[in-house]
Amino acid sequence: MEYQIKSYEEYQNEYRKSVEQPEEFWAGIAENFTWRKKWDKVLDWNFEEPNVKWFVNGKLNITENCLDRHLEKRGNKLALIWEPNDPKERYIRYTYRELHEKVCQMANILKRNGVQKGDRVCIYMPMIPELAFSVLACARIGAVHSVIFAGFSHTAMADRINDAQAKVVLTSDGLNRGSKQIPVKRVVDEAVADCPTVEKVIVVERLGWAVNMVEGRDVWYHEELEHVDKNCPAEEMDSEDLLFILYTSGSTGKPKGVVHTCGGYMVYTDYTFRNVFQYQESDVYWCTADIGWITGHSYLLYGPLLSGATSLMFEGVPTFPDAGRFWQVIDKFGVNIFYTAPTAIRSLMGAGLDHVLSYSLDSLRVLGSVGEPINEEAWHWYHIHVGKERCPIVDTWWQTETGGIMLSSLAGVTPMKPSHAGFALPGIQPLLVDQEGNEITENEKEGYLCMKFPWPGIIRTTYGDHERCRQSYFSTYKGLYFTGDGAKRDKDGLWRIIGRVDDVINVSGHRFGTAEIENAINQNKHIVESAVVGYPHEVKGQGIYAFVVTGENAPANPENLRAEVIETIVDQIGKIAKPDKIQIVSGLPKTRSGKIMRRILRKVAEGETSNLGDTSTLLDPPVVDEIIQGAL
Ligand code: WTA
Repeated sequence: MEYQIKSYEEYQNEYRKSVEQPEEFWAGIAENFTWRKKWDKVLDWNFEEPNVKWFVNGKLNITENCLDRHLEKRGNKLALIWEPNDPKERYIRYTYRELHEKVCQMANILKRNGVQKGDRVCIYMPMIPELAFSVLACARIGAVHSVIFAGFSHTAMADRINDAQAKVVLTSDGLNRGSKQIPVKRVVDEAVADCPTVEKVIVVERLGWAVNMVEGRDVWYHEELEHVDKNCPAEEMDSEDLLFILYTSGSTGKPKGVVHTCGGYMVYTDYTFRNVFQYQESDVYWCTADIGWITGHSYLLYGPLLSGATSLMFEGVPTFPDAGRFWQVIDKFGVNIFYTAPTAIRSLMGAGLDHVLSYSLDSLRVLGSVGEPINEEAWHWYHIHVGKERCPIVDTWWQTETGGIMLSSLAGVTPMKPSHAGFALPGIQPLLVDQEGNEITENEKEGYLCMKFPWPGIIRTTYGDHERCRQSYFSTYKGLYFTGDGAKRDKDGLWRIIGRVDDVINVSGHRFGTAEIENAINQNKHIVESAVVGYPHEVKGQGIYAFVVTGENAPANPENLRAEVIETIVDQIGKIAKPDKIQIVSGLPKTRSGKIMRRILRKVAEGETSNLGDTSTLLDPPVVDEIIQGAL
């Protein structure tokens, strides 16, 4: 493990080097990987177009680095431990050699079904081992994976499949989620009915349910297995060839396909994994994120496997069969590094101390948090009751677009502070600006968080629409990458993230655009208009508050109407976007130019209506009184 920072002083030196000589710095790290051909140039960039290329003309395959290169020394080491939803079912373990074989087989199945380098493959699967095989199999043959979290609806899936023009879909018959079982294949069938580009659907058997198999289109994974070889040569990829697309919500329009490429993403996820978590060779590492999100991509699969780690993958939920499940699994496998989201911690806090105190948790050495700001109360609970005041907590700030962790302490090496992410990682050059884009240099002052220099994991484009990428991230402040987050530094320069400053809300660590939810609600025939805002929620971080204006023939009973609106959202996006509150109003507060005054709606949702600020430009002031009266 040649490049792990071990002291605060070393961090400072590395950081300085990474800013003064970024190309030398990253080239030094990239040397540790297997390249078919080394790069000609480390970095080519401008933030105007934007155009960012790392390790230019380098040739590699990321799965050779995740799997093949470990075979000699770590062939019999565990790569993946899979813990099923039901603790009574037996777990499955895969050594690096076994995982290599599974990935090769899946890769050959993809080839057999017509997938070629550059083709897009959609993966809509629960957290079963075949999900991991599928992702890596795509990477092995140079197909671009687009994983869609298995809680999204058929409409959301169809939008994503069509945007990426995916040729093949990988799925399962159904999925387990706590005490529930959900017919996943049926959702895929509905989606694919609207997706002309899909030629094949490969189905993994998980529940043993009878499912509808379309002749000529659908095949069973277990039947395909009988026809394929256990070896599959890795395709040679250019550093900047697409590795994957992952859809995420922005402040406008439909979710966009964030694109990551092979070389830079590989170097960045591995480097950040080793350093932030201070990973050691014998560690059992557990990231609870679903592979359907970026955290699962970077820190359940790629980062840990690149580092040769043992990564645990969990099919279930934190509260099944009871709220002690996480802690039971930690003891069961002797987990050393545990990485989860504040929303999970807050919900388990609410379940009482007995659950966590019933387990020893002795194996834990490092704890991590990701996805949303962690409030001090949750931080302390995590620190005291899970980490027994012995384990450093890394509060890792990053985004789908950044590919990997950007701001975080290095576990036990650099300073940590509750509710603060800490310092920037080497190679990361944050900049705080005011509304006009002027740099804020003083500490303790809030501003907008930007980045002034590229890092290897940065977003390259939004799939099929480069202009949207420029508009979304590189046009707000000239020459800077804009994160969409508000932040400040404390007196010592440690970063604290305040939250989104755009129309993105973060519900239990899941990102939604308010416009995206509004568009979904507006599909309901009884709704004339709607406005959605986030508000502070004790467990979820933010809750979804929807204001809806109904048409003439809408159901008179508000409960019926609410149920209908929810049904529409579940159909358009999925259960994860269900509003917590739906208020039926006769109109929305608008300016004379017709713009919805969201500031007012946010105040109402937060229950802070004593000071609504300037309302002089309102078109119809009485509407505001009505909304305040009816607030939920
Ligand atoms: C928020 C998840 C505070 C932030 C990896 C960011 C955080 C958005 C943290 C990205 C953190 C993520 N502290 N806020 N440690 N981590 N966020 O794309 O608002 O799902 O912009 O990536 O989550 O969410 P995404």
